[in-house]
Amino acid sequence: MEEETQKINFFWGSATSAHQVEGGNCNDWTEWEKAQGLEQSGRACDHYNRFREDLDIARSLGHNAHRFSIEWSRIEPREGEFDEKEIQHYRDVVLALRGRGLEPFVTLWHWTAPLWFRDSGGWASPRSPEYFARYVERVVSALGGPTSNGEVGPHLVKYWITLNETNVYTGYGYWKGIWPPGERSLLRYIVVNHHLSRAHRMAYEAIKKINPVAEVGVAHNMIYFTKFAAVIKRYIYNNLFLNSIHTHQDFVGVNYYFSDRNMTEKSDVGWPIDSDGLYHILKAASRYKKPLFIFENGIADARDDKRAKFIRDHVEAMQKAMREGADARGYFYWSLLDNFEWDKGFAPRFGLVEVDYVTQARRIRKSAYEYQKIIENKELLGG
Ligand code: BGC
Repeated sequence: MEEETQKINFFWGSATSAHQVEGGNCNDWTEWEKAQGLEQSGRACDHYNRFREDLDIARSLGHNAHRFSIEWSRIEPREGEFDEKEIQHYRDVVLALRGRGLEPFVTLWHWTAPLWFRDSGGWASPRSPEYFARYVERVVSALGGPTSNGEVGPHLVKYWITLNETNVYTGYGYWKGIWPPGERSLLRYIVVNHHLSRAHRMAYEAIKKINPVAEVGVAHNMIYFTKFAAVIKRYIYNNLFLNSIHTHQDFVGVNYYFSDRNMTEKSDVGWPIDSDGLYHILKAASRYKKPLFIFENGIADARDDKRAKFIRDHVEAMQKAMREGADARGYFYWSLLDNFEWDKGFAPRFGLVEVDYVTQARRIRKSAYEYQKIIENKELLGG
């Protein structure tokens, strides 16, 4: 019986982020793309206009949940000015998800920010946590809180992911300097991490005030380190940020792509394929004694000849960890659609669904149906 409940409650889906799929954005990243002469996100997948069709696809593939992000620069294009039309847009997205039986998992910041926020010093500014918390409060009251609109019930969204991969963002943006804002300073890196941690805690409290039964956490990138100084790397990269927010998270969100082991199989972007690493990461993350979600796991594989096995192996690794006590509650493949892969542009193909960027046609890949079979295979569910 318990197993039955677990089966029913397990969330299977895929993830996207606003800047990577929506198109038509104007934020710190779009400016960076231009300034650096990188490929521009431009229309991306035009998901802003096509989200209903795209969510139809997710549903047709057997998903029962979906992770997406809200674009802060749309909601608050100028400091303190909130755009009701854009808030309504994301309400429509959430309603479209609910209407299709897909549980929404909503990310509030997936690396991009409004230009005014960048100009105020971005995450290096001591005011950044307050700015973020104010935006979060506004969005959550509109989407997650009780509403005067009689048509929809209160609390449209239960699962909130405040921040995506602070470790990747600060590593590239403030340490290596290859992402906006392009800084290379240990001091700034530390300060920004500190502000992000505070921003999460403030946002957590704001959300809980509006909806005490909301579930709130972050999505954190984790690498399975095995080599030189693995213990230190695990601590700094995998745990430090999570430790700083441990009193303010209801679940631990894991984004896992690779380990540091020498594997013969690699993805199109050269990442070693190591499903066993996910098993170890989940075992290690269990120490937080919180429910675990795999919010991202995916592969760039334009020919689609490795993706089905990649998913199957990682799901099996997850289930092995679950049999040994890891409390995993959901698995989200990255990504539903091919999309804009940051500084790498449109070349990497992560999607369950192939996108033709000229015509915006969608074509469901073979591996997406294999994933569907995994979802429908009752033996695999619940571990
Ligand atoms: C990020 C995604 C990205 C994916 C693949 C994750 O680190 O959250 O935005 O597309 O990795 O690189």
